[in-house]
Amino acid sequence: MATDKTIVLVTGANSGIGLETVIHLSKSSPNYHIILCSRSQEKGEKALSSIQSAHGSSLQSPISVLQLDVTSAESIAAAKSHLDSTFSGHLDVLVQNAGVMPYQPLRDNSALTSFRETFETNVFGAAMLTDALAPLLQKSAEARIIYVSSGLGSITLRLDPGDEWRAIQGTIYRSSKAALDMLAACHRVEFAGWGCKVCAFNPGFCVTNLSGEEGRKRRVEMGARPASDAGRVLVDVISGKRDADVAKNGMVDVDGGVLPW
Ligand SMILES: NC(=O)c1ccc[n+]([C@@H]2O[C@H](COP(=O)([O-])OP(=O)(O)OC[C@H]3O[C@@H](n4cnc5c(N)ncnc54)[C@H](OP(=O)(O)O)[C@@H]3O)[C@@H](O)[C@H]2O)c1
Repeated sequence: MATDKTIVLVTGANSGIGLETVIHLSKSSPNYHIILCSRSQEKGEKALSSIQSAHGSSLQSPISVLQLDVTSAESIAAAKSHLDSTFSGHLDVLVQNAGVMPYQPLRDNSALTSFRETFETNVFGAAMLTDALAPLLQKSAEARIIYVSSGLGSITLRLDPGDEWRAIQGTIYRSSKAALDMLAACHRVEFAGWGCKVCAFNPGFCVTNLSGEEGRKRRVEMGARPASDAGRVLVDVISGKRDADVAKNGMVDVDGGVLPW
């Protein structure tokens, strides 16, 4: 399919922040082709039909579903082949949103397993995907990679006695997001030569499935914001409205400006 649209691929887009990003991006303009990636094809198709039934007439840009498990080299290779055959090997924006949050405390017996599993998705998966898709992004005049990180990954805030999340341990998750931020910083430097804009993004504390069904309820009780807040701001990052912040050192923050690494 030859297309003059800006091709945007969003990982982990069958729920939460990724799903909201797809919805708001499609509503924002007819000029995108949005690839809603889901590690389960079935969940991805279900998400697309729910988007179409809830927002049908206000959607402007087309959305297609692509199976993509970021921890699987085979799945990444298949996704790349799909982009090669369907979009002539072209990609403009890669939103690395897929992520997991484990509950195990650090000294738990299963902590090492949990550490590895979290890094497999939040860090190694993101690195593998960028590695595979960078040659496609290089064909774009407006290439962009957005890593959905977290304020919990900020080393500066972790050491700040006044930080509002001080009491939350979350060592495994925090470490994975700090590593993701470094990946973003390295790719910003490495890819600057061909004009690719790279940033990490802090979506804030949102009501999503990230910490399971019980966690979702707790998020509501704790006053977490709707995931649509993050989705709307990600549309601004994708469209370039936040480029002044993208160029700064730190995570582009949902509430404006940047958070320190
Ligand atoms: N919610 C928050 O407060 C918050 C705050 C800061 C940062 N974040 C970050 O925001 C991102 C999105 O999370 P969310 O809050 O929207 O939670 P979510 O609703 O659980 O979304 C996470 C998505 O990632 C997908 N995923 C997990 N492992 C994957 C894999 N191996 N390959 C591909 N997709 C995979 C999930 O798929 P399944 O449905 O199949 O599990 C789901 O679609 C994450 O990176 C998270 O760390 C969230």
